[in-house]
Amino acid sequence: MAIQAIIFDAYGTLFDVYSIGRLADKLFPGKGDALTALWRAKQIEYTHLRTMCSTYKPFWEVTQDALVFSCKKLGLDLTLDAQQALMAQYAKLPSFPECEQVLRKLREQGIPLAILSNGNSQMLDAVVKASGIQPLLSHVLSVDSVQKYKTAPEAYQLGTDVFGTGARNILFVSGNCWDICGASWFGYKTFWVNRAGAPLEELGVTPHGEGTELNDLLAFVEREQA
Ligand code: LAC
Repeated sequence: MAIQAIIFDAYGTLFDVYSIGRLADKLFPGKGDALTALWRAKQIEYTHLRTMCSTYKPFWEVTQDALVFSCKKLGLDLTLDAQQALMAQYAKLPSFPECEQVLRKLREQGIPLAILSNGNSQMLDAVVKASGIQPLLSHVLSVDSVQKYKTAPEAYQLGTDVFGTGARNILFVSGNCWDICGASWFGYKTFWVNRAGAPLEELGVTPHGEGTELNDLLAFVEREQA
C-alpha cells in the first residue's frame, strides 16, 4: 500500500533542540552540552509521567520545569534572565539544514505532510513560522487538544483522524526512538531519523526505515511508492 501522508514529529526531528547548546554554553561555560542533554531527557520524562498520571500541563511549561530541574541537578545558578533567554531560544529553534528541501521534494510528489507534536499550538506556530516550512504542511497537530502526550494512543490518533485513513497508510517520521516505538504500536509505518547513531530501544520494535538525516527519507519513500 502506497504512503498516503507523512507525519513528522517536531522537536529533534525537524527542529534542532541541541542547537540550544551554544547559548547554554555561553551562559554556563563548559556545561552547555550536559545541560542540553539533561534538559531534553527530563522534558520527555516529565511528559511520560504526566500522561501516566493524568496530570497534563502544556509542553512550554513542562519544558520550563525541566530546565529548572536540570540546572538544580547540575548545580547551575539559573537567573531569571538566563531562563528567559534559554526559553526564548527554544521558541525559535532552527530547523535542520536539509529540512525545507526534503519537505519540498515530498510535496512535489503530491504527498500531504503534517506535524504531530507534543508542543502546544503557540510554541509550534512560532517555530514553524520562523522556519519557513509552514506552506509545505497541511496540518500542524498538537497533543494539547487531547491533553495527553505521546506515546498515548490518543495523541497518535490525531494523525489518522485528520487524514481519514488507517495508520498503516501513513508514514510517521521521528528522530526519537521512543516516539517511533509509540507510533509503531499505534500502527503507523515508521521511519527513524537516527542522527546520533543510537542503538534501537529494547522494546521489540523495528522501524520500517531508518536513516541518519532527513535526506535518507527520500530514498525510503521512493522505494515504498514504487
Ligand atoms: C515532539 C517532541 C517530543 O515534537 O519531539 O513531539
